[in-house]
Amino acid sequence: MLGNFNYCNPTRLYFGENALEGLNTELPKYGKNILLTYGGGSVKKSGLYDEIVKILNQNGKNIIELPGVMSNPTTEKLYEGCKLAKENSVDLILAVGGGSVCDYSKAVSVSAYCDEDPWTKYFLNMEDVSNKIIPVGCVLTMVGTGSEMNGGSVITNHEQKLKIGHVFGDNVFPKFSILNPVWTFTVPQYQMVAGFFDIMSHIMEQYFSGDDDNTSDYIAEALMRSLIHSSKIAVKNPHDYEARSNIMWTATWALNTLIAKGKTTDWEVHMIGQAVGAYTNATHGMTLSAVSLAYYRHIMPYGLKKFVRFAKEVWGVNPDGKTDEQIANEGLKALEGWIKEIGAVTSIKELGATEEMLDGIVKATFLLEGGYRKLTPEEVKEILKESM
Ligand code: NZQ
Ligand code: ZN
Repeated sequence: MLGNFNYCNPTRLYFGENALEGLNTELPKYGKNILLTYGGGSVKKSGLYDEIVKILNQNGKNIIELPGVMSNPTTEKLYEGCKLAKENSVDLILAVGGGSVCDYSKAVSVSAYCDEDPWTKYFLNMEDVSNKIIPVGCVLTMVGTGSEMNGGSVITNHEQKLKIGHVFGDNVFPKFSILNPVWTFTVPQYQMVAGFFDIMSHIMEQYFSGDDDNTSDYIAEALMRSLIHSSKIAVKNPHDYEARSNIMWTATWALNTLIAKGKTTDWEVHMIGQAVGAYTNATHGMTLSAVSLAYYRHIMPYGLKKFVRFAKEVWGVNPDGKTDEQIANEGLKALEGWIKEIGAVTSIKELGATEEMLDGIVKATFLLEGGYRKLTPEEVKEILKESM
């Protein structure tokens, strides 16, 4: 049964090879001062930066530049952005980059006019926004997080060794996002694959929770099948537009709140992955692939029915003459095979985690109740050890 819900996704998307033209439709809706946020330089190399600056100039905008948004954006960078946004009375934050730049821009949008410390208010205390919000628009260059069509924003505090995501409400979703699959062609293979696993993980986090018969889980299965199919093509030929465009669209739907509707969700893999990330600053998607197999093997007995369904519906496992455990195990084996085939990381050691860090990572892991089992800290440690 589907539970009760209300649904609204306020983000307008422009998708495809001419998507950037959408900027000309959107920009007139906002004032003059545009905070242009981007990362470490890929947008300059690809030529996208020049194209965007040209469009901003044509629309008579005043550009305030905020480069250097790093992967896993930090609190220090957030404070820098808040100061700049407020000083320049920014009317729109235009994020050009991957999930980090989009997440960061949302964090600045809710924090610039916040009288309290935004890290404490939004990330430690998970409070709602009660001040002015600066609108955000995104031009996406890297696929995976779904940040282009959700209210999520993940910030890392290196001093406190915490990486925390806040899922903000509709009013913080990007007002618009521009998605041209061609811009993702230049993403380095390691980042591309990390993005693929991030998408898979988002879907699995929402799928492996509850056993009701609901439409959300059927959509999730279709998205997983599409991703598995296209990812195998894209790792061999990153310039395959058909595969990259399908993956881009799948990533958006994987985390734009749709497949969580009317059901419970888990998110424990992300909690463990983020704690690993807080200690290692590793690439987000790889922190998830490195812990997922151990996690899912661990909780499989508690959610056996769903793992059987996953094996049959997502991986095409033939159930004839097999026990439920055998079928479920074959599904997880197939998942493992796919992880290896696309080249995602399967060990947190490879990401820089050491035995000495494990207790700290356990402490930094939030324990959630939506999955098939609420883990104890001891179980998290076991999973981490198995993931070494
Ligand atoms: O900084 P530049 O030079 O742009 O390089 C980036 C970066 O090094 C590069 N890149 C991006 N587009 C490129 C490109 N290089 C060449 N060509 C392009 N077209 O890729 C690297 C990674 O970018 P990043 O934005 O960090 O990756 P991703 O999109 O995976 O974002 C990761 C962040 O999003 C958070 C993660 O925790 C992490 O902090 N997440 C956000 C979520 C959300 N909003 O809902 C959910 C996710 O679970 C995730 O937690
Ligand atoms: Zn993720």
